[in-house]
Amino acid sequence: MTEKFISISEAMKQSKGKVAVRGWVYRERGSNEFKFLILRDSSDIIQCVFKKQNFAKQWPDIDKLQVEASLEIHGTIKKDPRAPTGYEIEADKVNIVGLSDKFPINKSLNEELLGDRRHLWLRSRKMNAIMKIRDTVLRAMREHWHKKEFYEYHSPTLLGMQAEGGATLFPVDYFGKKLYLSQTWQLHAEAGIFSLEKIFTIQPSFRAEKSKTSRHLTEYWHAEMEVAWENFDYLQDDAEQMIKHIVEKVLQERKPELEILGRDWKKLEPTLRKKFPRITYDDALKLLKEKKKISVSWGKDLRTIEEDKLSELYDTPIIVRHYPKVVKAFYMKEVPNREKGKEAVFGFDMIAPEGYGELVGGSQREEDIEKLKKNLKAQGEDPSKYEFYFDTRRYGSVPHGGYGMGVERVISWICGLETIKDAIAFPRTMTRYSP
Ligand code: 4AD
Repeated sequence: MTEKFISISEAMKQSKGKVAVRGWVYRERGSNEFKFLILRDSSDIIQCVFKKQNFAKQWPDIDKLQVEASLEIHGTIKKDPRAPTGYEIEADKVNIVGLSDKFPINKSLNEELLGDRRHLWLRSRKMNAIMKIRDTVLRAMREHWHKKEFYEYHSPTLLGMQAEGGATLFPVDYFGKKLYLSQTWQLHAEAGIFSLEKIFTIQPSFRAEKSKTSRHLTEYWHAEMEVAWENFDYLQDDAEQMIKHIVEKVLQERKPELEILGRDWKKLEPTLRKKFPRITYDDALKLLKEKKKISVSWGKDLRTIEEDKLSELYDTPIIVRHYPKVVKAFYMKEVPNREKGKEAVFGFDMIAPEGYGELVGGSQREEDIEKLKKNLKAQGEDPSKYEFYFDTRRYGSVPHGGYGMGVERVISWICGLETIKDAIAFPRTMTRYSP
């Protein structure tokens, strides 16, 4: 009898003969003579059958097994087209490792109740599939930047200033002083490029989003890059190559998981084949008016509804750029020679297809200290808090820029999720902060 445990997917690859597997009871049903269990491990699920005649002494314990009990099973695997994954193990030895109380998850639970039991719901096939895709997405991100010789670099999470506007700051009592959770790594990343030139991070960012939407978290994972010497087009090229690389990897490695989620992955293929359209904010307003009968007055940010309508016109992500200065962050470089009242910045957003919203936000950075100070004052900020940041412009300033990509936004779109909360194991929103 083999003692070496293999995963369920390895056992199915082996397809016949003796196997030893271990995992948790996913489903169970029994009769006087048989017990059928579906066993799950991290790799897959498989049907296992126990015949009473082979387990005389253990039968009362086997008969009582409930969903989520943990087991080690030795037996013989064979093809069985009636079984859920096409194979069945006939058990000849079982070790009950951990019994399970009645599992408090069933089909009747709504999103809220599943959220309360999130620590248990993670065991579902749905969450298992999403978390595997998440792993592939994060690996692809690191792969993309490492291939281009970027260094991984980290910024602090506790900060004395804002970067993305005061409205979404989380204050923290820091030994009697007020600090904030970082909204972005960016300001401290701009200091880093003067040493490393090309850097990236994947770390949490925090936004006190008061809205309850299907695409906002208060704590999300933020994949950001910053580069010295490069121009605005380089940033958009890199973001486009990054998205293509992620989608390519997921389609190569995770089609079975996309199928478990019921995702029509063919909808992701145009993203691989086609160049992403790049339009200006002014073009976006024209398109919305002509094609969607929506009027947006110049100078207003594009809202969710307008981004969604725009995304309906394309089957790949699109890049919208040259947004009005008034709606964007203080550090974005101004586009020269714009008409008065129509000042714009070298900032871009990448909008996902199928109504999944903004995946990426990036910009060329302003180098002029006086302009930075003016922009900060216009936002009611005290520029003296930003002296370290101005130093990056005082000592050998160079053209530079970067972008940030919302990891859960990318996962939501790729997986076709109804809510961004499912793109992370333990979501944090205004109303969801436990478990
Ligand atoms: O557009 P944002 O605010 O840009 C920045 O933070 C820049 N400092 C990035 C940079 O240049 N280094 O955020 C970037 C991305 C958005 O495009 C979106 O995908 C994601 O972060 N994001 C959120 N994701 C989930 N929940 C939220 N509340 C998010 N807010 C932004």
